[in-house]
Amino acid sequence: MTNSKNTIDDVTTLRRDYLQKTLHEGDLPQNPMDALSLWLTDAIHLDATDANAMTLSTMSLEGYPTSRIVLARGISQSGVRFFTNYNSSKGLEIEQNQKVSASFFWQQLERQIRIQGTISKISAKESDDYFSSRPRESQIGAWASPQSKIIKNREELEISFQKFAKQFENTKVIPRPPHWGGYQIFPIKVEFWQGRTSRLHDRLEAHLQNEQWHWQRLAP
Ligand SMILES: Cc1cc2nc3c(=O)[nH]c(=O)nc-3n(C[C@H](O)[C@H](O)[C@H](O)COP(=O)(O)O)c2cc1C
Repeated sequence: MTNSKNTIDDVTTLRRDYLQKTLHEGDLPQNPMDALSLWLTDAIHLDATDANAMTLSTMSLEGYPTSRIVLARGISQSGVRFFTNYNSSKGLEIEQNQKVSASFFWQQLERQIRIQGTISKISAKESDDYFSSRPRESQIGAWASPQSKIIKNREELEISFQKFAKQFENTKVIPRPPHWGGYQIFPIKVEFWQGRTSRLHDRLEAHLQNEQWHWQRLAP
């Protein structure tokens, strides 16, 4: 690893006011997943980079919360979907503990959404359908990469990719690897944060009770 002599600007002076928008009771649909779709659509229309990127947190096997970005690949009234390697660290963690959180941040809109919920695998058929829509190189990549496992070096990965590329050379439809597929987060609590001036941000939170969504305002 290289040594860097760079210094970071003093982060204590990095600040800005949030002035773009407001969030009032009644601005959002009653179902928070519809509200998430609305905000995600706003971000996509603004051409936000990786608008569907969300930070997914799981509990490590040692009991530490652990977070990483994944791309949301479907939002319905019942939850949010993403795709990954079922044998990855996150996959193994989800096997042990199905309570997760996810958050979105759209900087241009000064908006954040936080989701708490439980997670489970989607059906094999649904994973097959999505896998078949991916570019061929990504499909080969899913076979080639033992996600989260220690590998010797970059070369090992590239050799593995070449091996699977050769194996599937004459295969028109590459099958989905059994260790790769989708998860769905079923939310129980979803918070919408809109940055406002003087740090008096708007926060509206929906929580699921008796299969109904109840909304409340939180102090910023
Ligand atoms: C913008 C972005 C998008 C990503 N999308 C995914 C994704 O959809 N699925 C995935 O498995 N990993 C995705 N990753 C990689 C993950 O952040 C992570 O490195 C990987 O899933 C391994 O995590 P784990 O070891 O905790 O299981 C993405 C990373 C970034 C920065």
